[in-house]
Amino acid sequence: MFSAVGFFHGRGAAGPPRLCGVPLILAIESSCDETAVAIVRGEPGCAAAVLASVVASQIELHREFGGVVPELASRNHSLHLRALVEQALREAAVTVGAIDAFAATTGPGLASSLLIGSTAAKALACATRRPFLGINHLEGHLLSPFVGETQVPPHVALIVSGGHTLLLDVSGAGTYQKLGGTRDDAAGEAFDKVGKMLGLPYPGGPEIERRARDGNPTAYALPRSMLHDAHLDFSFSGLKTAVLYTLQREAGQVSVADVAASFQQAVIEILVGKTLKAAQRSGRRKVALSGGVSLNQALRGAFAQACAGAGLELLLAAPWLCTDNAAMIGFAALLRHIAGESSPLDGDIHPHLPLV
Ligand code: KG4
Ligand code: ZN
Repeated sequence: MFSAVGFFHGRGAAGPPRLCGVPLILAIESSCDETAVAIVRGEPGCAAAVLASVVASQIELHREFGGVVPELASRNHSLHLRALVEQALREAAVTVGAIDAFAATTGPGLASSLLIGSTAAKALACATRRPFLGINHLEGHLLSPFVGETQVPPHVALIVSGGHTLLLDVSGAGTYQKLGGTRDDAAGEAFDKVGKMLGLPYPGGPEIERRARDGNPTAYALPRSMLHDAHLDFSFSGLKTAVLYTLQREAGQVSVADVAASFQQAVIEILVGKTLKAAQRSGRRKVALSGGVSLNQALRGAFAQACAGAGLELLLAAPWLCTDNAAMIGFAALLRHIAGESSPLDGDIHPHLPLV
């Protein structure tokens, strides 16, 4: 656990120390089906700068299988990683010798994919005699709304991705408390599975959003599981099954746009309802959204409206930082590097690594 370094700003004489020098971090993300490399620089007295961020998406490769095939993913990470590292160095106009620390996602994710990025980052660290930092993918998402900002303020965070749906209370960088999480499917997973049921291409999330624009969100009555329960956990498997039953009942007569809109509306109401309840309970005045599902414009709009109504400030990651990328991993690594942390070169990857 690193302290909330507050991070680049000296906060008055009694605040955390000012950052000296401008550390350069090269980060690799390969936890699932995106191979990504970024170079991030810490700026004294101001925000971190992302000098380069390159992503090779494997979506096309996995599309014909309707989901990620782990062996294909890892083989492709290994094929593209070297070229991406060279591209990132070129774009950032720095040499590998100028990098102060190398970072990679070490969990959670697909074991064979995590191994490619983390082994490459360790090899670079070893060859250049620089430190290595293993980063939790979820911390990358969590911090993504703050890349380029000068601090991570206290807030309630909702991470919504293909693998995770997590509500956290955040006191500052490195100080997280879990408030709730999914008990079955992640929100993105539900989007992808419902997309598959509707015969839409993988990944289902963006396709459902596109189809939902022409649909009626009240056309089908779908459950808002656990929405009114006192706890802050989520469940999306009942909603997914309800969509399946709807499709079976309507036997070919269904409007894809109406199902997409009704499903999306149910997910939105659950996510917004639980997150606002979390903010109310924790007393935080800021709410941050991150992860691939947070790209959804209808979700962003619903959060903007609900937060404005409740007097909460909504913090969103830039769209290019919502889906998997290495800039968010580099940013998390930069904060840990500044706090004096590093990870052992003989450390393992952790496919089920929790954030807290
Ligand atoms: O964060 P991410 O790139 O990877 C994980 O860490 O899982 O999130 C990918 C997920 C997929 O489930 C995808 O369908 C979903 O994000 N997604 C969306 C949208 N764009 C991506 N879900 C709903 N609406 C979108 N526009
Ligand atoms: Zn992710």
